[in-house]
Amino acid sequence: MPQFNDTELTAAVIQSFKETPNPRAKFLLQELVKSLHDYVRRTDLTFEEWEYAIDFLTRTGHKCTDIRQEFILLSDVLGVSMLVDAVNHRDRDGATETTVLGPFYVGEHKVTPDGTDISATLPGERLYVQARVTDLDGKPVAGAPVDVWHADDDGFYDSQKPSYATQGPSSRARFITGDDGRFHFRTILPCSYPIPTDGPVGEMIMQTRRHPMRPAHIHFLVAAKGYEPLITHVFMEGDKYLDSDVVFGVKDELVAKIEKRTDPVMPDGTKTSEPWHLMTYDFRIKPGEGAPPAPLGVKAEKVGEDA
Ligand code: BEZ
Ligand code: FE
Repeated sequence: MPQFNDTELTAAVIQSFKETPNPRAKFLLQELVKSLHDYVRRTDLTFEEWEYAIDFLTRTGHKCTDIRQEFILLSDVLGVSMLVDAVNHRDRDGATETTVLGPFYVGEHKVTPDGTDISATLPGERLYVQARVTDLDGKPVAGAPVDVWHADDDGFYDSQKPSYATQGPSSRARFITGDDGRFHFRTILPCSYPIPTDGPVGEMIMQTRRHPMRPAHIHFLVAAKGYEPLITHVFMEGDKYLDSDVVFGVKDELVAKIEKRTDPVMPDGTKTSEPWHLMTYDFRIKPGEGAPPAPLGVKAEKVGEDA
């Protein structure tokens, strides 16, 4: 009967996966065992702490539904989501930086005419967004679908509100770039908002004296044929949480200048009697392929299964 001390045990568990048919799954499992065992050894983890961790993960699982993914939130606040993003986007070659998709991408973006006010029924300071999609040489990418979504003036996404089922999307749309690669739309200034705090992840954030806030931003997903899908946000300059985003998603080049304007006519000729804001941003996408992400509730294929 084999008996192991704490380091021999690690070698034995690694060895137990040696017949795994899928080489990538074998590698991932063996590396996971190494890291987990190392953590237990380095921390001298107690039984109580181990039980707490098991209970925490159990509660995290119980909080998940088709539209709520507490494990992704956990990955986000531990910086794992941004790390996965970073290791998969090491060479940008001048393409726009990426950031997390977030849990409020619901994948029901309707093609919307250029120039639409996507928050027409919502209160808030008015924002005019003018944007352009180019390739790495600065040539316009025409006909590119661009999904856009952001929080309202109270920090909530449409899909978080009960009215979503009856009233449909707001502050959420899909634009198609013109021949010059441009698209533009009107909306309201998004504000900073807390990630959902009514679950175990929020509890951890509060108990560890972190704050739960994300700086104000607009999500963009550019998915043009022949190019890598670009998943990113544009952040509002001056937001007080830019340096302490709870999910570590901010990158300098993703912060846009927001100009305060008082002229009575917006760039598309829309007349306005109130002050408004102008955001201008150019996205650069790189050649490649890949499907845009599946929204929550759509089952991902199992990793490591033999084809
Ligand atoms: C968001 O940007 O919508 C988001 C990202 C990660 C966690 C929670 C919210
Ligand atoms: Fe967001």
